Amino acid sequence: MLRTHTCGELSLSHINQTVTLSGWVQKSRDLGGMTFIDLRDRYGITQLVFNMESNAALCQEARKLGREYVISATGIVAERSNKNPKMSTGDIEIIVDHLEVLNVSKTPPFTIEDNTDGGDELRMKYRYLDLRRTSVRENLFLRHRMGIETRNYLNKEGFIEVETPVLIKSTPEGARDFVVPSRMNEGQFYALPQSPQTFKQLLMVSGFDKYFQIVKCFRDEDLRADRQPEFTQIDCEMSFITQEDILNTFEGLTKYLFRTVKGVEVESFPRMSFADAMRLYGNDKPDIRFGMTFVEMNDLVKGHDFKVFDDAELVAGINATGCAGYTRKQLDALTDFVKKPQLGATGLVYLRFNEDGTLKSSVDKFYTEEDLKAWAQAFDAKPGDLILILAGTESKTRKALSELRLEMGNQLGLRKTDVFAPLWVVDFPLLEWDEETARYYAMHHPFTSPKPEDIAMLDTDPGKVRANAYDLVINGVEVGGGSIRIHNRDLQKRMFSILGFTDEDAQAQFGFLMNAFEYGAPPHGGIAFGFDRMCSLFGGSDSIRDYIAFPKNNSGRDVMIDSPSPIKAEQLDELKLIVNLPVKK
Ligand code: AMO
Repeated sequence: MLRTHTCGELSLSHINQTVTLSGWVQKSRDLGGMTFIDLRDRYGITQLVFNMESNAALCQEARKLGREYVISATGIVAERSNKNPKMSTGDIEIIVDHLEVLNVSKTPPFTIEDNTDGGDELRMKYRYLDLRRTSVRENLFLRHRMGIETRNYLNKEGFIEVETPVLIKSTPEGARDFVVPSRMNEGQFYALPQSPQTFKQLLMVSGFDKYFQIVKCFRDEDLRADRQPEFTQIDCEMSFITQEDILNTFEGLTKYLFRTVKGVEVESFPRMSFADAMRLYGNDKPDIRFGMTFVEMNDLVKGHDFKVFDDAELVAGINATGCAGYTRKQLDALTDFVKKPQLGATGLVYLRFNEDGTLKSSVDKFYTEEDLKAWAQAFDAKPGDLILILAGTESKTRKALSELRLEMGNQLGLRKTDVFAPLWVVDFPLLEWDEETARYYAMHHPFTSPKPEDIAMLDTDPGKVRANAYDLVINGVEVGGGSIRIHNRDLQKRMFSILGFTDEDAQAQFGFLMNAFEYGAPPHGGIAFGFDRMCSLFGGSDSIRDYIAFPKNNSGRDVMIDSPSPIKAEQLDELKLIVNLPVKK
């Protein structure tokens, strides 16, 4: 037997038992007559003891063991004289009388400890070693529990997990497709699904009624901390439901996960329209763990010869409560923050409401004491507060002020990772106008239904039409999104036409779905959660990479297996692909 117990389970109740443990050498210490080895497996660490006096040969052997050697050790469980309350096995140790080296190991390129000395790239290259570290492994255990509990809940609610294909047809859903050449169909390509959207709708036409799938999705888009080219969704669809039914069902799933996985009761799921989210937070995924909502100031500031404000489409600000004492240096840092190219603000105006009740702004020469008082009133400011104001085009101002609000939230410690504030953002616009291509795009996807009361505007004012679409936002992270779908062929056809598809294009790309709608499609709708994002939110991290066993880096590369990589000429030939490879100079 290679082991009778794991390295995490022995305690005083096992004293005097003979046991065999197997695992990796975490570290070893020679103290004159004794050698101690910390043996690690996924369950914990147990101290092994080798005694020079009682077994010199074995002790010599133990001294030769390097870090990460795989060994099996047999011995007697003994009470430790020097107990370690920090370890679950800290009361005992094993007096070893038999040792077997199961495999040797090179010295790892970084230490296998929580505070490792390995940089990001190195740990990604040796991800299998990184995964030995407790903190990383625990992230994957969390993910495992999230998956199990999701299946438990949805199964109990009558959902059926159905697998949909991975080699599908290229369809527009916002991002670029990853494509796969077909050897048997020369010159033709499959696409990897950006989501199983059309398949889950077809399953509703088939009468499955309640579908879910924990499923890989693929999107060729720019990567960020919360975006990977392949990621996982909890994808769901239901028939004969209203938007209200969906929000309730998935509020239920979210509460259940918080309760069972984190032991946290999350009760409140307020709702906010997209329009309000943009107006108050400048963002369609507001972090409502804290207030600091926008105050629009156009009426208060225009017409005072201050060109920046006079020329601006929008002047708006936030009240950073209690920050009147910010130094010049701190204000300069905030100015630099909003001026960075990604935000592009031209500057930052402030108004200090000093503790003594006086008001001091950076634009005093344009405004009277009375004007500033009116500003303070609009923000409901108190002595000690600091009002931060931005001006410019509406979209830039909202975006920069939204980032500034989050930055102030960070600086003031208002974004605690153990506080969870869910929010449904509802009533999204159906369409989004793109200046560059001068056409409308579906804000969610082309299968989302307009609100029935807005359908009349589809021809007259398409930009104003609201959709039956919703996002679940938690702590400023968009964890899920979905909609009630179009289930009528004519409306779907009309939608494609508004999106600039010719009838032929729409038929060629989505004929299968529109045809299916002619065979008794039930009213249906659904949602997909970003599973990786849910896991990182539960784990208290901003990066979804930490919750993916083998993630890609920010250039979309797997540096461990070195992918993507060129393929052989024969493979290209077989696929009838002609590739112009970059010439190395
Ligand atoms: P959507 O495109 O909003 O909707 O995606 C649903 C959720 O998936 C997560 N997500 C991502 N997570 C990691 N990396 C990415 N690149 C990435 N892209 C998206 C987000 C997002 O909220 N078919 C529709 C759902 C529906 O209508 O039912 C869809 O895919 O958390």
